[in-house]
Amino acid sequence: MSPFLLTRTLPEDATGADLRTDVLHGLTRTPKDLPPKWFYDARGSELFEEITRLPEYYPTRAEREILIARAGEIARITGARTLVELGSGSSEKTRHLIDALLPGLESYVPVDVSESALRGAAEALTAEHPDLQVHALIADFTRGLALPGTPGPRLVAFLGGTIGNLLPEQRRLFLRSVRALLTPGDALLMGTDLVKDEETLVAAYDDAAGVTAAFNKNVLSVLARELGADADPADFDHVAVWDREKEWIEMRLRAREALTVKIPELDLAVTFEAGEEMRTEVSAKFRQEGVRAELAAAGMELAHWWTDEEGRFALSLATAV
Ligand code: AVJ
Repeated sequence: MSPFLLTRTLPEDATGADLRTDVLHGLTRTPKDLPPKWFYDARGSELFEEITRLPEYYPTRAEREILIARAGEIARITGARTLVELGSGSSEKTRHLIDALLPGLESYVPVDVSESALRGAAEALTAEHPDLQVHALIADFTRGLALPGTPGPRLVAFLGGTIGNLLPEQRRLFLRSVRALLTPGDALLMGTDLVKDEETLVAAYDDAAGVTAAFNKNVLSVLARELGADADPADFDHVAVWDREKEWIEMRLRAREALTVKIPELDLAVTFEAGEEMRTEVSAKFRQEGVRAELAAAGMELAHWWTDEEGRFALSLATAV
């Protein structure tokens, strides 16, 4: 038996409504911006998987290295019977965790905005582990979380450094909502990319093969398909910059010349000046003290901090206080 449940926690059109709100707000303000979650349609999720295999994009490999080295320890410490994974994507790295947590693990709850990624991951997992209950949730984890009633202790995993895609205030609210999911004995396992030299960071977001550029521009295809927008990817350049004050990478799309993007579904015409940039992603990089402080502010305590050999990426294990 391969128990697999798929639940959409938002009404079918909620994603559409959110997209419209985000586009309306983000493209009528200065500077223009769009939340990075809109990258991840089926094509965007595929492109992201391709990014994780690029020589310049070290975070996935660094995090996998830590997971392989520490999965046994994480399993012993947490004794988790349920693994909840926020922003699970392909769940590829999570395999290491799942293998270490079995046979005590009864239930796996992957949460993602991409239905295609969830279906693919669940299919592979249930084939490998027929006794594991997989309850996938199509949900936006920044919008408050409602989890199915699964056995504790629960381990909530938020991997890949995705926390860095949230702005500081969103991060604060998000960590508080995660904290609200935890009962005594539960834990949060969180991946964070670490501050390092600018050259390494920028290369990771502006690879030589142009995969990240295609990923960035894919958001224009999403706007075209969902809202009828006529933005031509060829009219924009991919930009990745390191903000040394805020300690985050910004991805932007820069208009090559003055142009107007018509968005019929919103009755909107968006004008870009030549060289005008629209921010499409923030990817914050962290230091241990910052992570500890943000967890503490949300009512959690940093219990373990593990990095890869080269100190590029960290996994934090936190408990509710
Ligand atoms: C979603 C956090 C894993 O910010 O590094 C990869 C997404 N954007 N290349 C990141 C991303 C550009 C990624 N994470």
